[in-house]
Amino acid sequence: MTPSDESRHAHDGRASHEGRYGETFFSPEAAGEGERIDFGALAYDDITMARLRALGAGPGWRCLDVGAGTGTVSRRLLEEAGVASVLAVDRDVRFLGARAVPGLDVREADITGEGVTGADIPGADFAPGRFQLVHARFVLMHLPEHERLIRALAERVAPGGVLVLGDAVDLTSDQTPDSPYTSAMRAMWQGLRSTIGTDVSWVPSYPRLLRGAGLEPVAAEIHVPPLQPGSPISRFWADTWERSRQAMVATGLVDDAAVDAAVRYLGSDACAALSAGMLTAWGWKPEEG
Ligand SMILES: C[S@@+](CC[C@H](N)C(=O)[O-])C[C@H]1O[C@@H](n2cnc3c(N)ncnc32)[C@H](O)[C@@H]1O
Repeated sequence: MTPSDESRHAHDGRASHEGRYGETFFSPEAAGEGERIDFGALAYDDITMARLRALGAGPGWRCLDVGAGTGTVSRRLLEEAGVASVLAVDRDVRFLGARAVPGLDVREADITGEGVTGADIPGADFAPGRFQLVHARFVLMHLPEHERLIRALAERVAPGGVLVLGDAVDLTSDQTPDSPYTSAMRAMWQGLRSTIGTDVSWVPSYPRLLRGAGLEPVAAEIHVPPLQPGSPISRFWADTWERSRQAMVATGLVDDAAVDAAVRYLGSDACAALSAGMLTAWGWKPEEG
């Protein structure tokens, strides 16, 4: 997608979408939303932390965690990796404020810059200064104008520092055999895209997008957690379907009974499916001079 395609897509999207992430669906005010985010964190945090530490996150690093959610990665950066500080930013900080940790600074801001008058860079005023690590996981896939946001986040990286972005990759294809899981996943991606604008189709382009933002070298990896009954990722998808059920049914691809059947299927030993994965991509900011 070219930048002009993207801005047209984003503009079209804003015109047709019913709301944004956290409004129509996944409201932080809804009971259990923090637990849903934590199921995702349980499925992926060890992978994310291993990558961040392999990239060097450790003592002395000043870090920015964007769309930090319940703050599991922010806190582990401080408590396990021993970084100097983490600025955790989210448009709703009720979960982040729940447990204070030395070195954790919490800031409520919308990184798209909506409501920020005269900001050239989206949300430019939410994070002053530069950071050795800028991290955003499962955030940009929900937002319009991801290329502009990637460039803005790259601006926040100090010379010699690293931008690390993680988002979902849909591993179903036209060839994937039908199952209750496959039908529900197709309906979920389509329903979220047409309501709040969630779009994972561009996620495999992350390495190229990071390179386009002036970062070098870049690299990426994918982790797919096993869908086992009762596992965090199975519970995450089941809860995500419950919360987005209205959008799923509105696609016409599934009805309520099909969503119920998919939830039962996920929790049973009959489940034989491949979860969506998490693609983690990173790129280094060249040293100055
Ligand atoms: C799926 S959660 C991911 C949370 C966390 N990064 C993780 O991986 O566990 C998405 C988070 O992004 C936040 N978010 C969504 N849109 C945002 C925006 N425009 N500005 C700041 N945060 C946003 C949401 O409030 C939510 O906490």
